[in-house]
Amino acid sequence: ANALRLGVAGLGTVGASVIRLLSQHGDALARKNGRAAKVVAVSARDPNRDRGVDVSGLTWFTDPVALANSDEIDVFVELIGGDSGPAEDSVRAALSAGKHVVTANKALLAKHGVELAALAELNRVSLNYEAAVAGGIPIVKTLRESLSGNAVNRIYGIMNGTCNYILTRMERDGISFEDCLADAQRLGYAEADPSFDIEGNDTAHKLAILTSLAFGTKISADDVYLEGITSITTADIQAADELGYRIKLLGVAQRTDTGIEQRVHPTMVPKHSAIAQVDGVLNAVAVDGDFVGSLVLVGPGAGGDATASSVVSDIADLARGCRTNVLGMPADELADYTRAQMRRH
Ligand code: NDP
Ligand code: HSE
Repeated sequence: ANALRLGVAGLGTVGASVIRLLSQHGDALARKNGRAAKVVAVSARDPNRDRGVDVSGLTWFTDPVALANSDEIDVFVELIGGDSGPAEDSVRAALSAGKHVVTANKALLAKHGVELAALAELNRVSLNYEAAVAGGIPIVKTLRESLSGNAVNRIYGIMNGTCNYILTRMERDGISFEDCLADAQRLGYAEADPSFDIEGNDTAHKLAILTSLAFGTKISADDVYLEGITSITTADIQAADELGYRIKLLGVAQRTDTGIEQRVHPTMVPKHSAIAQVDGVLNAVAVDGDFVGSLVLVGPGAGGDATASSVVSDIADLARGCRTNVLGMPADELADYTRAQMRRH
């Protein structure tokens, strides 16, 4: 088969790692999947910046929408970020032009996920987003595929690498909040606007996506109770320590008598519990399902390489010919929504 032609928009922390991963493992992946996936075009703002990867010979687009519309590509890989502007415009353009989309953009999905899923459905293409939740942890496919036979009662965990890194280093190394955040930014863990990390919005976006997958609801980040870690001091961490606890920023979604409760807030967890051992940039996502019981996935929640691992898994699915477009909503609801969208246009 002809190679699957990829256009990668965004050559920052994640985009550069995706290019490197594909150049290192592309041949092995092609053998495994029965079809090669090749980056043919890229987009970023500054064509002169050294990105530590070889992009020579690839078609360069300064405008990601032009890349999304280009006949050169079959798959648009969105690694720009942001819930509007170039990320939103280019993803809409790609889906409308019948291109599959792979994205790591949880902010975009939390805000426009349902519309984008409907647009993908209308155009019979995939919208894949394994990297959008918990970096390298394969929680999206785990929920969508491996645990699909379960009724989920609760899903919770540490879903932001930057916050967990900050809380861990404040406790372990006695470093100030600001210095820890600056390190997290330097290491490529933080969002372009790090207030999304430390104020808890990023965790809320991820929780809203997981809630949708786990409980079959429409994504709604507005329904998440939200409290970040900006007011946590070293004194709070020490006080918790003396009482036998660690402070972690948790996202929790669970069934209650009145519906699905979603909340994000700093939580005191017993020092000897499994979740208290999850340190630094690691994330942990725990799922309670009625047939499987309880399970926990732990792994790197941020960083270019770990996130690229998830992005490339979505590309590999497309190379194997798997079309997926599941945002948790039941298929008939998504179909109704899609039909309503069609009537509007
Ligand atoms: P970066 O800020 O490192 O990279 C963003 C890239 O987008 C840059 O290459 C930038 O171009 C490009 N870009 C920004 N605006 C435009 C524009 N108007 N037109 C064209 N290109 C543009 O972000 P990350 O790689 O960290 O994150 C990318 C996405 O992945 C985000 O959605 C983020 O939430 C998500 N993500 C990030 C993780 C991480 O650990 N970093 C983990 C999981 C998900 P230029 O380089 O020229 O400035
Ligand atoms: N800024 C995010 C984090 C990136 O720190 O978890 C991964 O989604």
